[in-house]
Amino acid sequence: MNIIVTGGAGFIGGNFCHYMTKKYPEDTILCIDKLTYAGNLETLAPIMDKPNFKFFQADIADREAIYKIFQEEKPDIVVNFAAESHVDRSITDPEVFLRTNIIGTSVMLDACREYGITRYHQVSTDEVYGDLPLDRPDLFFTEDTPIHTSSPYSASKASADLLVQAYARTYKLPCTISRCSNNYGPYHFPEKLIPLIISNVLNDKKVPVYGKGENVRDWLYVEDHCIAIDLIIRKGTVGEVYNIGGHNEKTNLEVVKTVLDKLGKSEELISYVSDRPGHDRRYAIDPAKIHKELGWLPETTFETGIQKTVDWYLDNRTWWENIISGEYKNYYEKMYGNRG
Ligand code: NAD
Ligand code: TYD
Repeated sequence: MNIIVTGGAGFIGGNFCHYMTKKYPEDTILCIDKLTYAGNLETLAPIMDKPNFKFFQADIADREAIYKIFQEEKPDIVVNFAAESHVDRSITDPEVFLRTNIIGTSVMLDACREYGITRYHQVSTDEVYGDLPLDRPDLFFTEDTPIHTSSPYSASKASADLLVQAYARTYKLPCTISRCSNNYGPYHFPEKLIPLIISNVLNDKKVPVYGKGENVRDWLYVEDHCIAIDLIIRKGTVGEVYNIGGHNEKTNLEVVKTVLDKLGKSEELISYVSDRPGHDRRYAIDPAKIHKELGWLPETTFETGIQKTVDWYLDNRTWWENIISGEYKNYYEKMYGNRG
């Protein structure tokens, strides 16, 4: 089978390309990535020369480029990870989120209609459900929770989900959608919370915690997300949405303190900074459907996953130092220079 993976030079798409090329040597993984600030070919270096892997630099919103790839490669399955993914950037500059996350998704869907596929899978997020109150630990997002977005990022991802559902119904395109909670693990760009903590601490910099650090996220080790998507594209029911998460809720402060502890550093490195506008309070997934229908459960506990992640960043300093010495540094100054 030929499987297109968009956004494969990013965090989760990159991990998915590693996972799939190793698990299915008989399939060909066709990675499409624009290589924005978040795309990094060093993430793909270990698999770039594998016979079952091909890389195409292209923008998913560029119809001509995408159609050409479909025409030449005749994909069977498309997994769309490509997105602008950082909430803080979406607050500063929403427009590119609309172009990539919505228009890009529509181009991918049109290409699937035009050339025919057996499955289109949209990688979405639990953020489309909005947030839950901190004082109601009994509440969880299910697939039936109404869409109710907070940030330009989540609004763009929700719009993409609606388009996918519209194409599934109107054109009978065989689609599935997964909505996952916060991922962590290797190759995570150091603008997101966990890699930011690790890289800052290793550079003796303060760790910025928004507000009081009370917001809650449901953390999932990235490989568990890859396993879930692989199951959905092979065994999931066309037309369905699957929530992916692991009942692994932590406040941001708990996460920061755990990482500081693993690195043997003092909590004095914590710097409380002004809160993110519209900051979602709590995300929490109910993964009962994917467990019941596809037998999926997360395999990596937070304790194991966070240790593996910290070890990976210690062993792969060049990977993240190369990022920080580039464009990311300007971004860091812009976001945090006058915060605090
Ligand atoms: P990321 O920012 O690390 O990677 C995104 C990748 O997409 C990059 O390689 C980038 O170059 C590429 N890209 C961006 N615009 C593109 C375009 N126009 N055309 C082609 N490629 C483009 O993101 P991530 O954290 O790996 O997230 C991947 C997907 O998973 C996204 O759709 C995101 O919404 C979703 N998701 C992420 C999380 C999380 O915790 N990171 C949780 C749930 C869902
Ligand atoms: P992030 O990794 O940006 O993911 P998301 O916003 O998609 O959940 O942020 C995770 C949580 O950490 C979120 O509540 C915001 C918070 N946060 C900080 O407190 N400090 C930071 O420097 C960053 C990047 C995030």
